[in-house]
Amino acid sequence: MFDFTTTATDKPALYADLLAAADALTAGELDAVANMANVSALLMDWLPDLNWAGFYRAVDRELVLGPFQGKAACIRIPFGQGVCGIAAATRETQLVADVHAFPGHIACDAASQSELVVPVVADGTLVAVIDLDSPLPARFDADDAVGIESLAARLGPRICP
Ligand code: SME
Repeated sequence: MFDFTTTATDKPALYADLLAAADALTAGELDAVANMANVSALLMDWLPDLNWAGFYRAVDRELVLGPFQGKAACIRIPFGQGVCGIAAATRETQLVADVHAFPGHIACDAASQSELVVPVVADGTLVAVIDLDSPLPARFDADDAVGIESLAARLGPRICP
């Protein structure tokens, strides 16, 4: 049984502990699906106020649903469409305070109000994006973006197909 816990009282400390836990969960494991599945569970367990947390994998200029926690979601997103597709096409983090104000936002769960999407790159290749949705408006800030970007950098080589 894995029993990761945190006593962090601020976001940077929480993300430092999250990174350490994700690192321990995925170190030495070569199966990308297993690693994405466990990290999805960790994200949903540790980060408050989320209704969706998981991965879309980059496959032939399209994002394909990967391991996640939350409601069933749309399966394929072309690069350039939606928050996830923009993150994939630009390879830039998308921090969206109000998804209803984001042109082309793809609503997979009507409860989602804000969203954070971070590209995962390994050896110069886009492997996936990490997608977090919240039922609260403006749930994510720069600390969340930096924290998930650090996670993405560590995970890149461990979630390659
Ligand atoms: N909202 C995303 C789609 C994925 S779901 O949030 C899980 C988007 O606009 O790309």
